[in-house]
Amino acid sequence: MITTFGTETSADSLYHKLKEMLADVVPDFELRLKAEQAAEINALKREKNAVILGHNYMEPALFYSIPDFVGDSLDLARKAAATDKDIIIFCGVRFMAETAKLLNPSKMVLLPSEKAGCSLAASITAEDVRELRRQFPGVPVVTYVNTYADVKAESDICCTSSNAVAVVNSLNADTVIFLPDEFLAGNVAKETGRHIIFPTKDPRHASDSLDYQMIGWPGRCEVHDKFTVEDIINIRKQFPDVVILAHPECSPEVVAASDYSASTNAMIRYVEQTKAPRYLLLTECSMGENIAAANPDKEMLRLCSIRCPHMNQITLEDTLASLQKLQYQIEIPEDIRVRAARAVERMIAIG
Ligand code: 13P
Ligand code: SF4
Repeated sequence: MITTFGTETSADSLYHKLKEMLADVVPDFELRLKAEQAAEINALKREKNAVILGHNYMEPALFYSIPDFVGDSLDLARKAAATDKDIIIFCGVRFMAETAKLLNPSKMVLLPSEKAGCSLAASITAEDVRELRRQFPGVPVVTYVNTYADVKAESDICCTSSNAVAVVNSLNADTVIFLPDEFLAGNVAKETGRHIIFPTKDPRHASDSLDYQMIGWPGRCEVHDKFTVEDIINIRKQFPDVVILAHPECSPEVVAASDYSASTNAMIRYVEQTKAPRYLLLTECSMGENIAAANPDKEMLRLCSIRCPHMNQITLEDTLASLQKLQYQIEIPEDIRVRAARAVERMIAIG
């Protein structure tokens, strides 16, 4: 289990704790500066009765110093739903902060950067979902949480990478529309034994073939799209005993060539609970650093330096400014919020 120092308000004590974990990853002068900023954030957080939720992709110094809770999308949505604090600061991307707001309409939810988007969330609009519903009447719509509130509002139920298969199975439907991640949909289709078509990529499939049980959309995560089967072949040649973990936003071919695929929380647990000599994570690079810091006895291979440009927007400076100026507040029109919250709550009820 990962422990953070989100209650620490002494810069000196925070610096020493961070140094013990992150000396190999963050230069000393930077660590001192970051410890000071983090201590100020933690003091202000207490004063303003705020909670900080941090996604597993946050950079190591921020990840270990200010969040009260760290986790994957589902875990943090649950933490948001359960908090009794007045203010929620989301150190993650916009769709995550929106999910927190959907579940907490009366609380203030802050996202430290206005630029923290997501290529998946940007790949689909509410009108696209309405058009699919017109094309496939009566077919239930499952929407990945990596979407904006207006898209969630057009959906029957949401899912995350950790419960996508369970959500699809829970519908007991012959056919489901699964949006917008092409690769996650492909991986879920494979696991549930469903044939998937992508009508907007190839409209002939929808009219020619009756043999499909899933309808997908060509959205992709710009980070996970970069990993290839060749990367895996090359790394296995160099390190035959490596265990490779791939996020299900990677292509089905990459997932098939890996040893394990699951949400970011499940990947962290897998490394904690297994005893391989070395691991390679096919996901956002900061998470590899965060796992390495918590598991000094295990070797984490670094294949790349692929950072999510959106998660990367969240810094200690901006989080401090966010708390001081109460910016950037997430607002969702009430008619959209009510419908989107229903889709998220249905998902949370499933697990
Ligand atoms: P998790 O829900 O597995 O943390 O994934 C979120 C995400 O954005 C992955 O790119
Ligand atoms: Fe979106 Fe990909 Fe970044 Fe996750 S890693 S927030 S899916 S762009």
